[in-house]
Amino acid sequence: MECFLRLDKFLGEHNIGTRKQIKEYVKNGRCKINGIVATKSDVHIDENSDEISFDDVLLSYEKYHYFILNKPQGVVSATTDGKNITVLDLLKDENIKGLSPCGRLDIDTEGLLLITDDGGLIHRLLSPKKHVDKTYEVHLRDALSDADKAKLEEGVNIGDKKEDGSVDYTLPCMVTYAPCDDLGRPVILLSIHEGRFHQVKRMLKAVGNEVLFLKRISMGTLQLPDNLQPGEYRPLSQQEIDLLNK
Ligand code: URA
Repeated sequence: MECFLRLDKFLGEHNIGTRKQIKEYVKNGRCKINGIVATKSDVHIDENSDEISFDDVLLSYEKYHYFILNKPQGVVSATTDGKNITVLDLLKDENIKGLSPCGRLDIDTEGLLLITDDGGLIHRLLSPKKHVDKTYEVHLRDALSDADKAKLEEGVNIGDKKEDGSVDYTLPCMVTYAPCDDLGRPVILLSIHEGRFHQVKRMLKAVGNEVLFLKRISMGTLQLPDNLQPGEYRPLSQQEIDLLNK
């Protein structure tokens, strides 16, 4: 499919500079189209087939941008907020135009957050029909008994109602015991397929327990890398993007 775009727009989308700077760069012969020096910044290119390079670096056709962030506590999963730091404020070196977090983590929840401008992917990952698994490391006030583990796995009443007024139990999920944390608190790994408001905290409350610390460690095929500290982010690899799109 042909997809024509002005060269200066294409270069702008790749954060090469302002339109004025780009005009100057092109005039200075720094940009090539299919290996031939471009002379005008307002020419039309086919972004699906033309090879565009700037200072001899080939610019990718990547249309969308994908980042994985280890969200720290105290930061909100929103694009703007009058009071608190947002997850987009943490992507300080990026052009954040059009980026949104894929779903929400509570302000006091840490961990994996996908941030992208690929609205289709966000929609697919959050769609209740797709049941994308999300795994949380849950640090608890009290050790979880086998009976409460079984209740969580089967589905609990967290106070939600269906349209007909009946109890909307949580869907079956998976719980595994993990070693206690550094403070000696019991830890479980909880994998859920839904994304209801405060779901994990409400599920543990439903069995008389309390979440003291919560961290998301995976979402679908995406895992939180061990070397990504809270507040750090990196672009997704092509392999990670391909797996998410499968
Ligand atoms: N469940 C919660 O209770 N909080 C989150 O941030 C995510 C899932």
